[in-house]
Amino acid sequence: QEAHAAELERTFIAIKPDGVQRGLIAEVISRFERKGFKLVAIKIVVPSKDFAQKHYHDLKERPFFNGLCDFLSSGPVVAMVWEGEGVIRYGRKLIGATDPQKSEPGTIRGDLAVIVGRNIIHGSDGPETAKDEIALWFKPEELVKYTSNAEKWIY
Ligand code: TYD
Repeated sequence: QEAHAAELERTFIAIKPDGVQRGLIAEVISRFERKGFKLVAIKIVVPSKDFAQKHYHDLKERPFFNGLCDFLSSGPVVAMVWEGEGVIRYGRKLIGATDPQKSEPGTIRGDLAVIVGRNIIHGSDGPETAKDEIALWFKPEELVKYTSNAEKWIY
C-alpha cells in the first residue's frame, strides 16, 4: 500500500565484533529480514575507540564503559539500518534482554550468546537514539530508498 512507501520507522542495528567473528552475520540479518523488516543501509567497519565512545556516550559514567568501547573497536562491526512498522521496539524484542542469561530463548541473545560483555548485537533503544545513531554511523546518502516486492504482502 502506498501509505507504507512514505515514512516508515527506522532503527540502527549493529553486529558487534563477537557476532562477526562467530559467523553470525547471516543469522542476524535473516531474523530481521524474515520478520518483514527492510534493510536500507549496511556496511562493515572497524570503529575507532573514539567512535565507540561517541556511540556509547550515554554510558560514559558506567564502570564497564572503557572495556565496552575497547571491545566495540576491537574488530569489524556490521552496521545496519532497518526499516518497518514498529522496528525500533520490535527490533529490541528480536534482540532480547541486555544480559543473555536473562534473554528469552527465541531471541538473538537468548539463542546465541552467554555473557553480557559478549552479547553479539546492538539495537537502538528508542526513537531519539535511533535518529542519533543512524546519523552517527551513516551519511544520509548511504540510506537506500526502494520498494521491495514483499511489502505489499507484509502491509
Ligand atoms: P546497554 O545500553 O545498557 O544495553 P543494550 O545493549 O541492551 O542496549 O549497554 C550497552 C552494552 O554494554 C551492552 O550491550 C553490553 C555492555 N554492558 C556490560 O558489559 N555490562 C553491563 O553490566 C551492562 C548493563 C552492559
